[in-house]
Amino acid sequence: MDVVPIAFRPPVVTILDQTRLPAAEVTRELRTMEDVEDAVRTLAIRGAPLLGIMGAAAMAIAAETLGSAPDVLTAAAHRIGTIRPTAVELATGAAGALRFALEMPERERPEALWEFAERYLSRRITEDRQLSAFGAALLPTGCAVLTHCNTGALATGGIGTALGVVRVAWEQGKLTRCYATETRPLLQGARLTAWELKRLGIPASLLPDTAAASLVASGRVQAVITGADRIAANGDSANKVGTYGLAAVAHRHGVPFYIAAPRSTIDPSCPSGDAIPIEFRDAREVGGWGDIRWAPDGIEAYNPAFDVTPAALIAGIITEAGVARPPYEQSLAALLEAP
Ligand code: MRU
Repeated sequence: MDVVPIAFRPPVVTILDQTRLPAAEVTRELRTMEDVEDAVRTLAIRGAPLLGIMGAAAMAIAAETLGSAPDVLTAAAHRIGTIRPTAVELATGAAGALRFALEMPERERPEALWEFAERYLSRRITEDRQLSAFGAALLPTGCAVLTHCNTGALATGGIGTALGVVRVAWEQGKLTRCYATETRPLLQGARLTAWELKRLGIPASLLPDTAAASLVASGRVQAVITGADRIAANGDSANKVGTYGLAAVAHRHGVPFYIAAPRSTIDPSCPSGDAIPIEFRDAREVGGWGDIRWAPDGIEAYNPAFDVTPAALIAGIITEAGVARPPYEQSLAALLEAP
């Protein structure tokens, strides 16, 4: 059975609560803006492309619960877009829904926003397949791939981005193994990617983040592929913290490092990675897990959720419209122009 991380049953959005995986497959109903804020902040729903879909669907919830007047919807789009700052699609998903809604009479807006969210999800499903085929074509037969965080169905609503590439390469008989980092501190790799890989029957090895450098140095992987939360115009790419280290190590050992992300992740308003806002999260996420604490109470922590990989370390950016290669200013701009 396919993983269904989000579904629309107006006036309710149902999500698979990703904080409960892999122990339990529990759905959660989002009915209010407060429900949305809590689910996004706690990572019950997460992953940049899926956050775009959530952003669009949250506008439908706003219209149902708060009203459809232009000032109300404009304030709602702003509120949604700022829940998590790094993944650009959360804000652009909501902003796109807002623009669409304002083009029609007020009474039609709630229903139209649900339809908008449905179409957004359908487009993601199609684009994931296209992107994954482009990515799989880059991989040599008999390869093993290292990935980071979770970029599968749980992160997009389709087959995924980096993990979609892994899946299609496996279906094509090209892939021998996927190595997945556990992805401290919230363990998206250990909890979510490992769960997806097992469901798909793809041979997989989970590794501590700290083992990634020696894995790449050992020659066991022929490519490193991750997703992205925001890609600057020059190709600098923000993704789950630790990605920069993987890219640097891959570069050191001549292993190609690829970003796989839909074009909606490209933010032309950010000239370089310096302009990408980085989300910092609570120190308690580093010092323990739930009620289990391994660090002393009150210890401060350095806990950025994302880091920025410089474009110079990226061999290619795989999108649904093709693969961008350096120099990225030109290639990304051309991809954004493409149909
Ligand atoms: O904090 P998260 O779990 O939302 O972070 C997710 C990532 O960093 C993913 O790699 C990225 O969003 C791409 S998902 C296709």
